[in-house]
Amino acid sequence: MDRRPIGVFDSGLGGLTAVRELRAVLPGEDIVYFGDTGRVPYGSRGEEVITRYAREDAAYLLEQGVKAVICACGTVSSVAGEALAAAMDCPFVEVVTPAARAACAATRNRRIGVIATAATIRSGKFPAAVARFLPEAEVFPKACPLFVPLVEDGHIAPGDPLASPAVPYYLRELRDWGMDTLILGCTHYPLLAPLIRDYLGPEVALVSAGREAALAAADLLRERGLLSGREEGGGCRYCVTDAAGSFPQVAEVFLGAPVEEVIPVDISRLERLGE
Ligand code: DGL
Repeated sequence: MDRRPIGVFDSGLGGLTAVRELRAVLPGEDIVYFGDTGRVPYGSRGEEVITRYAREDAAYLLEQGVKAVICACGTVSSVAGEALAAAMDCPFVEVVTPAARAACAATRNRRIGVIATAATIRSGKFPAAVARFLPEAEVFPKACPLFVPLVEDGHIAPGDPLASPAVPYYLRELRDWGMDTLILGCTHYPLLAPLIRDYLGPEVALVSAGREAALAAADLLRERGLLSGREEGGGCRYCVTDAAGSFPQVAEVFLGAPVEEVIPVDISRLERLGE
């Protein structure tokens, strides 16, 4: 049994998709969430910058004494996942492998779409992971760069006048291609799931990378005997590098629960893991 918190990080709000699932499956665990709201988005940046930010985010969580780290960011998982895993001496879960595994289990026609940030799509990590689980699958990758700023700015309600036209703009090609499964390979995108589902219809299975990573982390902690042993009462501390934005409001809408504690983090004081 281990009462230390689980660390979860993302560039901003997207990792909340993992937090929501973790709280549902492991309600007795404490969580420390780190959202780099001062530097979001990561997905339009180059590999060197993303890796530097990722090392700082992970180092911050480790300093908080977490027992495991979930990298709830498709961009960091794709670009810097291997570097982080190599530098980490506690259980580490990224989002690409669990999401690819879930998509391969869900598809029937073996046509899998992947939407994610530009950096994630450029990395080719999702198609490579799908090919490991289901070599005969076809994958259609597509970057949707405006989705993250829309989510960060709170444009997530069905019928939203900015987000609604963006969904067909990015997804029409994939829908016409005939996929039956779509990986939401950026953890921000499930906040747009109601709009995406409206457009694609119920026959396309949506796989949330954040949710799948949370489930994989729960399995890993259980296997290693690292759960807290409590059935309920876990709390979540939200640490953000810019607390002035819409983080608490959007987080509350998405989590359906009050955001108890938001702690500002000074970016200039972050250490770097593995350097
Ligand atoms: N939520 C992140 C991801 O999963 C990052 C989005 C961004 O900062 O561009 O890719």
